[in-house]
Amino acid sequence: WGKQDSRVPKQRLLVVANRLPVSAIRKSEDSWALEISVGGLVSALLGINEFEARWIGWAGVNVPDEIGQRSLTEALAEKRCIPVFLDEEIVHQYYNGYCNNILWPLFHYLGLPQEDRLATTRSFQSQFAAYKEANQMFADVVNEHYRDGDVVWCHDYHLMFLPKCLKEHNNKMKVGWFLHTPFPSSEIHRTLPSRSELLRSVLAADLVGTLKDLQYYELECQRVHSYSGAQGTPDGVEDQGKLTRVAAAFPIGIDSERFVRALELPQVKDHIKELKERFAGRKVMLGVDRLDMIKGIPQKILAFEKFLEENPIWRDKVVLVQIAVPTRTDVPEYQKLSSQVHEIVGRINGRFGSLTADRSLDFHALCALYAVTDVALVTSLRDGMNLVSYEFVACQASKKGVLILSEFAGAAQSLGAGAILVNPWNVTEVAASIGYALTMPADEREKRHRHNFTHVTTHTSQEWAETFVSELNDTVVEAQLRTRQ
Ligand code: G6P
Repeated sequence: WGKQDSRVPKQRLLVVANRLPVSAIRKSEDSWALEISVGGLVSALLGINEFEARWIGWAGVNVPDEIGQRSLTEALAEKRCIPVFLDEEIVHQYYNGYCNNILWPLFHYLGLPQEDRLATTRSFQSQFAAYKEANQMFADVVNEHYRDGDVVWCHDYHLMFLPKCLKEHNNKMKVGWFLHTPFPSSEIHRTLPSRSELLRSVLAADLVGTLKDLQYYELECQRVHSYSGAQGTPDGVEDQGKLTRVAAAFPIGIDSERFVRALELPQVKDHIKELKERFAGRKVMLGVDRLDMIKGIPQKILAFEKFLEENPIWRDKVVLVQIAVPTRTDVPEYQKLSSQVHEIVGRINGRFGSLTADRSLDFHALCALYAVTDVALVTSLRDGMNLVSYEFVACQASKKGVLILSEFAGAAQSLGAGAILVNPWNVTEVAASIGYALTMPADEREKRHRHNFTHVTTHTSQEWAETFVSELNDTVVEAQLRTRQ
């Protein structure tokens, strides 16, 4: 996100996502450090360079004063990013509350928060009001920067109300919306009190895209809207005369070249050498996750413990490196998870000493770690695509390590034939898969890797973005033709 070829005129694209690809840290009244943000959405969108793109979003920091807002806006402009300033109260209600305590668990089949059900019910209205207010704040920034002909691409569960806000302001705006998480089946989704209003707002977009679960999304749109006359048609969902194309799922990818190139850098090669020395005589297993309950980190570590219990000969011959990046640390469920993981890691290390847990790594260190890994464990309980699995594969051209992959990650559809698929809830099955992966013959590893590597290097984020935007352009043209007829 930064380098663009200015010689060829490109279509202007306004990407709107809750989080900018860089998060800001304040160094003084008017100076800022910018760090790359973590998460699948950023990982995918960083690979887009065929558009004249601007990114609109939150920089992850509260900036109440004018000097701060002005200087941060300038610092971000160099990265072609435009900030939306959210104050602490809005962040608390919209981001920690409605987005991450309600929508996120619901969309990942965890249901509405269990322990605090009544408190959640009581605070629901105010959190939903803040959600709508925050979405309107994003819309105001888009409207300020929008030029005729731009494509506006809204992302993820944080911004379901945004297409409606944008279209109400300017009906001619080309608006797409894309969901990066799973979409739950109706039995889960219909518990959401604001289900109807939210889906109707999304349907204000011209094109809606999902990673997967398209059938649930379509059915739910039709079910929720059938009360008010909306119809499912072969072309999409029609609501009060407005047709929204709910196109086939668009599987996302990564900028695989960025990883392949990084492995050639001298500092990454040095790092690989150091890691090989550090882990000499041991096989390396790796987990890289945000510290999120959907990632199944405790279950994964318990499966590793079971494997060591049952296979004493492996105890000093294998190490599990688990990178667990802290995330959404103000949400109580995440705080509980963090203590739980620390406790389990401490206990297992007390018994076997075969686990290293780390909070985060920079991009080059991460590439080096991927490259020296023998077995990657991606065992989410439920996930969007999970691009960590793609990143691992991109860095494995020489080692041809094995990917153990949850059947509940979107990547299971694309990398399933090359990976060992597991049900992450089944600790016995995951433990057995670890044994299988560690002893897999070289020719089988090679074959599986080839399948995955070909997929990851041909289904890139660039291709994903081009397909979505070109469908969005076509959809708008078709709609114009239809109204002229
Ligand atoms: C997931 C979501 C993204 C989000 C990322 C990181 O990948 O789909 O929208 O940005 O997690 O979470 P955070 O709350 O830190 O932005």
